[in-house]
Amino acid sequence: MDQLEVRTIELFSGAGGLSLGLKRAGFEIIQAYDSSNRAVEVYRRNVGSHVWQADLKNIFEIGPKLSALAPHAVVGGPPCQDFSAAGDRIEGERAAMTLVFAMLVCIAKPEWFIMENVPRASKSKAWAEARIMLVRAGYGITQTTLNASYYGVPQARKRLIVIGRLGERDGFLDSSLAAARSQEPMTIRHMLRNDLPDDVMLSSADAFYTRPFYSGRGVRTLDEPAPSVIRTTRERPRPHYLCSPHPGDPIPAAQAAILTQAQVSRIQGFPSDWEWGNTPCREIDQMIANAFPAPLAEAIGNVILTRAAGRSIPQIEGHFGQWLWKRYGMSKASIRNIKTRLNRGRRLLKGRTFSEEAAEGAALESCEHFRQLPKGTRSDIRTALKIYRVWQIESLLPEEPTDRASAVLEAVAA
Ligand SMILES: C[S@@+](CC[C@H](N)C(=O)[O-])C[C@H]1O[C@@H](n2cnc3c(N)ncnc32)[C@H](O)[C@@H]1O
Repeated sequence: MDQLEVRTIELFSGAGGLSLGLKRAGFEIIQAYDSSNRAVEVYRRNVGSHVWQADLKNIFEIGPKLSALAPHAVVGGPPCQDFSAAGDRIEGERAAMTLVFAMLVCIAKPEWFIMENVPRASKSKAWAEARIMLVRAGYGITQTTLNASYYGVPQARKRLIVIGRLGERDGFLDSSLAAARSQEPMTIRHMLRNDLPDDVMLSSADAFYTRPFYSGRGVRTLDEPAPSVIRTTRERPRPHYLCSPHPGDPIPAAQAAILTQAQVSRIQGFPSDWEWGNTPCREIDQMIANAFPAPLAEAIGNVILTRAAGRSIPQIEGHFGQWLWKRYGMSKASIRNIKTRLNRGRRLLKGRTFSEEAAEGAALESCEHFRQLPKGTRSDIRTALKIYRVWQIESLLPEEPTDRASAVLEAVAA
C-alpha cells in the first residue's frame, strides 16, 4: 500500500461524520453506502458524490462491488440501537448489520478496517460472531473504548472502536491511540472559544440543559463537555424534571440555556457551514445523534496513517522489564539494552507487530537497512524480538509457561 494513499469505503455512512474526519486525516473515500435517502442526500451535499443508497443486507449485490474496488480500508458504524442504553437491547436485524459489516470486510479483504459502535456492542453476540470471522480472515484487532472529549470533541461520548489490520497481533494500535488522547477533556467553553466566538447567548449562560437518560443529570456548566448527544438532547426540561431535578445540577434547569440544533450539530463535530438541506427537523436531529464525531475520526485516522507510514511503533507493554529481571535475573542495564534493541527492531519493521513469528522474521531479513547492520547487532535484534514474543505468550498465561514458550526460551538461551 502506498503510504499516503488509503482508498477507503464507508458502510452505513449516515450524514458523513466518519468520512469527514477520515478525509481530513488524509484518507481517500472512494465509495460510501447508506440505506437512508435523506442521509445519502446530506452526505452527497457535504462530503462528495461517491455515496450510494443501498441496503447493505444485499451482500450478493454489494460484496462483488466492494471487492472489485480493491480498497485499502473499509470503515463504518453499523446501527447501534439494538445495543445502546437508549434502545431495548434485543439483538434483531440492526444488530445483524454488525455481521454484515464483518462479512463485507471479509469479502473485500482490505488491509485495514475500522468499526465503531456503542460500548455495549462489545458484549453482544453479534460482535462475538463478527470478531471470530474477522480473526479467521487474518485480522489482528485493536479493540478499545474511547471518550470523544479527549479527542477534540466537546462531548463525553464513549464509543467502541475496533481497528483491524491484516497479519497484526491483537492490540497493535492500543498505545498509539492512548498517546493521541489529550490530558484534559474538551469543554463547551473551548468550543465557544474555537468555533463559535459569536455565540453570545450560550457564552453568557451559566449552564446548559440537555435531556438526560433516565435519572441522569440534565444541567452542566460550560466548563464541562456535553453528555452523549441523542435525538432528544435539545428538548426543553419536562415538568417532571423541573419538579424533581437531579441533585448535581449546578443551577435550576429552568434557568439553563437550551441548545439549538446548530449548537448540537457542532457538539457532534459537524462544521458550522454543514448543509442539512430540506431534511425535516426531526430527521436532522436523528442524523446528528447517529453521527460519529469528525474530530475523533480524524484523530483515529492520523494514528492509522502514522502507523501505515511506519512512523510509529507500539509501546513495550506491561511488565516486560520486570519479567526479564525475574526470569533471567537481568540487570537494569541489560534490560535497557533489550528494550532498545526491541524498539530498533520494531522501527525496522515499520511498527508492524506480526501475528506470525515466521512473517516477522521474513520481514526483518528482507529489510535492506537490517541487512546492512553488523552481524552481532542483527543477532541482538533478532533475540530481543524473540524474547518479547515469549513474554507475550507467557503474559497471556501467567501461571505456567506454555510448551511453545518453553521451547522458544530454550532456543534463545542456547
Ligand atoms: C450509526 S449510523 C452511521 C453514522 C455515520 N457513521 C456518521 O458518522 O454519520 C448507522 C447508519 O446505518 C444506516 N443503515 C441502517 N440499516 C442499513 C442497511 N440495511 N443498509 C445500509 N445502511 C443502513 C442508517 O441509515 C444510519 O445512517
